[in-house]
Amino acid sequence: MPFNTPNVSPASNHAIVTPGAAPVELDLSGFLYEAVDASSFTDVKSWSQFFDLVPVDPYIQEGYRFKAIAWFRVKHDKAVAIEGIDQHIAAVNELSGMNETESKKYLSSSEPTWHSKETGYSVWNLPQYAMQQSIKYNPVHGDMRREYPRIDEAIVNSTGFHNLLIHYASFFGWSDAIVLVQFQRVDCLANRVGQPTVEGFHQDGNRHVAMLIVNRNNITSDSGVSQYVMDDNGKKTDELIFDAVIPPGQLIYWNDKRVWHYGSPLTVANPEVNGGRGVRDIIIMSAKTPPANMPIGPVPEKFRK
Ligand SMILES: [Fe+2]
Repeated sequence: MPFNTPNVSPASNHAIVTPGAAPVELDLSGFLYEAVDASSFTDVKSWSQFFDLVPVDPYIQEGYRFKAIAWFRVKHDKAVAIEGIDQHIAAVNELSGMNETESKKYLSSSEPTWHSKETGYSVWNLPQYAMQQSIKYNPVHGDMRREYPRIDEAIVNSTGFHNLLIHYASFFGWSDAIVLVQFQRVDCLANRVGQPTVEGFHQDGNRHVAMLIVNRNNITSDSGVSQYVMDDNGKKTDELIFDAVIPPGQLIYWNDKRVWHYGSPLTVANPEVNGGRGVRDIIIMSAKTPPANMPIGPVPEKFRK
């Protein structure tokens, strides 16, 4: 199915985000997914080369996944800080061996790393926490702590990246959240496919998720097809509501409570080019607000200052 034809379901309402007042959140009961052209506010192509530097994900034995991550706190100035977020950050900082002075820099009572004047959102760049998912949501990786290197600082500090984070926050209009950003490459070789979703159709335990396609190179047109089916009280249904290849430059938001997502395996288009390798590079962003899933583990020793 070609992209951008009948199958898009824009939100029936919009979040209201202004610098002068606390945001009015998007009503998620009326929202399944929506695609946005990100090229107007961010230069995705310039990040493409960074994916070549992202190291292999040591938790995928077959070696087809590469991942770098970064954590942010994104809070609106006019919104009251969610106490659970500050408590959670303080607790994980302590487990990371930080003293109180250092730890405080990451709390909402401290100066943010940067600020968006147009929207009123403030952002704190958080330490390089490990990912520690609740066993409820990931049967493959359970409660294991996973350590990933940081996304390149030049990207994290760029206007295009800031625009992307603020677009995500403003689309949903949350008051305060921790955002996990994952830069992820999946590759394939002539004799080995790549799996964008190891666990098949799934949910990740977030309220909503953003995925930006950065690059598709030397993969067949039926590789990395994005598919969504409806959730029925925590169970996957067979009702396919989205089935398309999302092209580079497109950002898609979806309601992780109401739909299950999947990406089809990658196969090489032409074994004669690019060293016989195909790749698909994406950015995944997920916002976390207690009491929901807060998958933060202590900063791994090797990433401590
Ligand atoms: Fe997922």
